[in-house]
Amino acid sequence: MSVVILDFGSQYTRLIARRVREAHAYSVILSGTTSFERIREESPHAIILSGGPRSVFEAASPHPDPRIFNAGLPILGICYGMGLLVQHFGGTVLDLERRSFGADRLVRADGALFEGLRPELPVWMSHSTGVAALPPGWSSTAETPSNPYAAVASEDGRLVGVQFHPEVIHTPDGLAMLHNFLRASGEPFDWTPEQTLERALAKVHASVGTDRVLLGLSGGVDSSTLALLLARAGVDHLAVFVDHGMLRLREREKVEEALRPLGVRLETVDASERFLSALAGVVDPEEKRKIIGREFISVFRQEAARRGPFRFLAQGTLYPDVIESAGGEGAANIKSHHNVGGLPAELGFELLEPFRTLFKDEVRQLATLLGLPDAIRLRHPFPGPGLAVRILGDVTAERLDIVRRADAIFLETLEARGAYHDAWQALAVLTPIRSVGVAGDDRRYGHVVALRAVTSVDAMTADWARLPYDVLDEAARRITREIPQVGRVVYDITSKPPATIEWE
Ligand code: XMP
Repeated sequence: MSVVILDFGSQYTRLIARRVREAHAYSVILSGTTSFERIREESPHAIILSGGPRSVFEAASPHPDPRIFNAGLPILGICYGMGLLVQHFGGTVLDLERRSFGADRLVRADGALFEGLRPELPVWMSHSTGVAALPPGWSSTAETPSNPYAAVASEDGRLVGVQFHPEVIHTPDGLAMLHNFLRASGEPFDWTPEQTLERALAKVHASVGTDRVLLGLSGGVDSSTLALLLARAGVDHLAVFVDHGMLRLREREKVEEALRPLGVRLETVDASERFLSALAGVVDPEEKRKIIGREFISVFRQEAARRGPFRFLAQGTLYPDVIESAGGEGAANIKSHHNVGGLPAELGFELLEPFRTLFKDEVRQLATLLGLPDAIRLRHPFPGPGLAVRILGDVTAERLDIVRRADAIFLETLEARGAYHDAWQALAVLTPIRSVGVAGDDRRYGHVVALRAVTSVDAMTADWARLPYDVLDEAARRITREIPQVGRVVYDITSKPPATIEWE
């Protein structure tokens, strides 16, 4: 089943897409003013009109192509979308005297949308307009203590408007409501991880045929899953893993051990000397990133030429990177395509992006089906420039060795104490500070290592992880014992903002 979501600028539009997929239907977001011809290309079985910051009676408010209303498809209008439905079919929408934001409850709920649910339900409101008069033949199917039109439906029940937001978690039965709405399409709920995998395999097959595919493998979840997908699809592929010398301890071996047995044709390129000499004497963090990016592309280009020709470059681009959605003005605001892994398209390949329609957690589900070991699937994120941005100052072989060992000890300790998944990301930083200490009877003038562990959902904001003292204690003792150059360990207790997760 396929669902088109027309976006009128709601902050929740992506959430609607996620929830529809959780209900096992495929969803795609299009700008609210998209033409009917373009909408039809998606072969939708139902349409959802999102909320939005405008009011439908404002002169410049965005409206959908009116042909959607006569296409015979079930349509759900949420908030602003409800206003569009009601207005189109001859009802009236007005400014509410009392704006309604936040938790509310339905005191009556009947009709197909609420089938199987209790008649009294908590819901989340966020609107300032409401229905004043229903279109002819329509009825109210739910009310709150202050709003007799919390949900409305056409006579045949296929056109439904809700004043509240079923897509947010504060409407606990929202997923069940979406499921009930989608049932009106009569289509099977077939967007399951297994079906998604089948479709992705079929797509790769159909587009690649007997041509060759090159993949830049970072060892992260997306590119590792993509490598497994290419292997499972049986296409002629080569995954190139560039070891830039700033990886975690045994990183390269771990990636090889995880992917080779699963049929991935993997070449690792040891380019560490080249990267280290390009970085010699560089202390500015942005400069480090630029040099690493440049060297990476140049190594990759060399490998491609040496092992080519390849027709396709496979990339793990995800749906959030390519969603086209509307701003509040109804103007299309198309997010510029960004190449995962930073590889420029002008390398002369055709791009193969089998995850373009998937969200991150859907890729994780594919990873499970494809057998990606948990050690890779569930691990903390790691920045592309690697340990180079965790050494404040000059990157040298000796400093890399110190920070790599400190990082390994910290992560090992977290794993051994069952605290690894309490942190979204954990890391060690080598600071440029030296401090005085005592080792046995000797004075020690050692490096200061900072440990950082954060909780986060999307890395946009983060808080420092309240790790148990004994876990921190063990990590600090092991680091100072096993790495003699380190004299002191500190724990970073800054949130993001104002700090960032990495120190550089
Ligand atoms: P910050 O330090 O900005 O990091 O709070 C947020 C997340 O992004 C990762 N990170 C990077 N990833 N290249 C990457 O691929 C980079 O240059 C880079 N810098 C930071 C960081 O590890 C964290 O997960």
